Amino acid sequence: MKRIGLLTRDCAGVNAAIRAVVRTADYYGIEIVGIFHGYEGLINGEIKVFNRRSVSGIINLGGTILKTSRSERFKTKEGQEMAVRTLKDNNIEGLIVIGGNGSLTGAHVLAEKYSIPVIGIPATIDNDVNAIDMAIGADTAVNVALDALDKIRDTSTSLERIFVVEVMGRNCGYIALRVALAGGCEEVLFPEGEYNIEKICEEITEGNIRGKISWIIIVAEGKAKAADIAKKVTEITALETREVVLGHIQRGGRPTAFDRILAARYGNFAVQLIKNGEKDKYVGLNNDKLNAIPLKNIVKPKDIKTEEYYRIIKILT
Ligand code: F6P
Repeated sequence: MKRIGLLTRDCAGVNAAIRAVVRTADYYGIEIVGIFHGYEGLINGEIKVFNRRSVSGIINLGGTILKTSRSERFKTKEGQEMAVRTLKDNNIEGLIVIGGNGSLTGAHVLAEKYSIPVIGIPATIDNDVNAIDMAIGADTAVNVALDALDKIRDTSTSLERIFVVEVMGRNCGYIALRVALAGGCEEVLFPEGEYNIEKICEEITEGNIRGKISWIIIVAEGKAKAADIAKKVTEITALETREVVLGHIQRGGRPTAFDRILAARYGNFAVQLIKNGEKDKYVGLNNDKLNAIPLKNIVKPKDIKTEEYYRIIKILT
């Protein structure tokens, strides 16, 4: 294989993965063609040949130097055929896709329907990619959210106020549970579990009688809206409550050491796989071991060990 295309979604650590892919490919004498704006750019032929120096000074940068977008056209047969045409017209023999479940599902379509040798690299703050321990970006997102939470706690403690903090994660409670545990939060609402607002308010009221007034409730965006929960808590307890939505700050920022190292390992492994003729697979870490997993498994939901985390959070609060 002489030429491989590379397209990405965005989150912290993706640039470090781009660097790893480009430099590993260069090491093996393979050329990397960067595809801008994700699948939309693949359809439009927005490409540029990369070399080792194209990826200098990006290991610490958030986002993606390749830019990205959501592509409705790629969901259609016509869009997919145009994407394949770009690959053929530019002698691109294989493709590495860095992104979350949506991007990796697209990668599977190209491999299965159009026989393109494709390898996926999971990168999403949601950490909802099945069958692997970690996707690139999730560790940074948890740390960014935790940093914000520590600041919120300063006010919560000083003013003895209840805060409801909404975190991202789509339909996965990974960020919510990790942030709640690492931040010493009193309660967490997450998509994989149920909650009872009356019971939560009862605990708040009982705590209030004992003199505990500051509370932080983490809400995963896939479960509820912070504003709705804050409103209910005030209605039921008559205590002052504030909501904070952390939003996209969680997707950006300097990647943590963990994410940079993961990006280096995933990027390096992905190139080795595609060079060795593997296709329709994604790379993944399980108990610190790198594995190649069939992309068809991407659709299955991921087990994020909710019970263990929630149990500890409630014991330690
Ligand atoms: O999948 C990553 C993610 O940041 C989710 O956590 C969030 O629900 C979604 O993307 C936000 O998407 P957009 O940036 O298109 O609003």
